[in-house]
Amino acid sequence: MDKLKVAVLGGTGMVGQRFVSLLENHPWFEVTTIAASPRSAGKTYEEAIGGRWKMDTPMPEAVKNIIVKDVSDVENVAKEVDFCFSAVDMSKDEIKAIEEAYAKTETPVVSNNSAHRWTPDVPMIIPEINPEHAEIIEAQKKRLGTTRGFIAVKPNCSIQSYAPVLYAWREFEPTKVVVTTYQAISGAGKTFKDWPEMEHNIIPFISGEEEKSEKEPLRIFGHIEGDHIEPASAPLITSQCIRVPILNGHTAAVFVSFAKKPSKEELIKKMVEFSGEPQKLGLPSAPKQFIQYLEEDNRPQVQLDVDYENGFGVSIGRLREDTLFDYKFVGLSHNTVRGAAGGAVLCAELLKAKGYITKK
Ligand SMILES: NC(=O)c1ccc[n+]([C@@H]2O[C@H](COP(=O)([O-])OP(=O)(O)OC[C@H]3O[C@@H](n4cnc5c(N)ncnc54)[C@H](OP(=O)(O)O)[C@@H]3O)[C@@H](O)[C@H]2O)c1
Repeated sequence: MDKLKVAVLGGTGMVGQRFVSLLENHPWFEVTTIAASPRSAGKTYEEAIGGRWKMDTPMPEAVKNIIVKDVSDVENVAKEVDFCFSAVDMSKDEIKAIEEAYAKTETPVVSNNSAHRWTPDVPMIIPEINPEHAEIIEAQKKRLGTTRGFIAVKPNCSIQSYAPVLYAWREFEPTKVVVTTYQAISGAGKTFKDWPEMEHNIIPFISGEEEKSEKEPLRIFGHIEGDHIEPASAPLITSQCIRVPILNGHTAAVFVSFAKKPSKEELIKKMVEFSGEPQKLGLPSAPKQFIQYLEEDNRPQVQLDVDYENGFGVSIGRLREDTLFDYKFVGLSHNTVRGAAGGAVLCAELLKAKGYITKK
């Protein structure tokens, strides 16, 4: 198969490196172009990274000698590729403008950034939950005046440990959710080397994260209405997001009440049997089982469970009845795989399978 050529915008960063690693030997996509800031432009990828390689696996040979381009050199980057992944760190307005500029060159953008998550005609997709939101792309293309260029985004890393299971339980109508997230430092693009203050420490603030954790699930659970996505109105979610001394893996401690309270057995059955379009279509990165339930009292644990289904799955444990709410449980997901680059790769696979991303 002739692979689709891909650019990674922000390819030198933490999420960008994860894209580059995940796409090594990908059956459909091939990284042919990498772009970053003017600081990196003109250097080989290996030189631009220098000592900043943050992945456990070595840098793929095929990308080492790619000459890094400047993200702002839109035409020059776009003409080389069929579509791009975006993981640049710039201001929200700059990211909005640059992603739209790429889309207008007829180059689809699958973004990890939050800038366009609330643009009314940009789909924010968890492929197992709301693949049908891709249909809003037609309205977006009309607005942008494009025939194949568009932007699609994935949601924030914090919601992946609890939003999928709430969706798997939708027939029981979750009404109220209280969630506390315990978030890894890689979610801030950091390792312990870059952020030594995080060793033996907890920081009870992650800028903007609580609003995202409360609101983004509702847009994912929403539906298309004309030229926009209308968010769902339930469940009501309140959250606290806390940075903890963990490299990879966001844990969530969750309380939930339902309009139709189910038994514990029903909840477990629904979550482990839940699957969606990625499993039906056999997408290359799709986890075989999206959500696993662990019976042991001391699971899920970051050390044991973060890489479940190569980091594309979600682990749930400690489901039990609560005194104030109906149930409580603990969830875990990999924040830079399912929560960032991997979630975007799965989204791009879905968009290719549905014919939105094609060869130029
Ligand atoms: N880490 C996560 O788990 C996660 C999850 C969800 C969303 N995000 C979001 O994804 C984005 C990237 O995150 P990250 O953790 O990978 O950040 P990062 O490690 O700091 O990487 C930032 C990337 O953006 C590039 N960049 C910075 N300033 C630029 C400029 N003025 N023009 C062009 N490129 C520029 C950098 O290039 P140079 O190397 O040349 O400086 C680098 O490639 C951020 O917006 C972040 O909020 C991250």
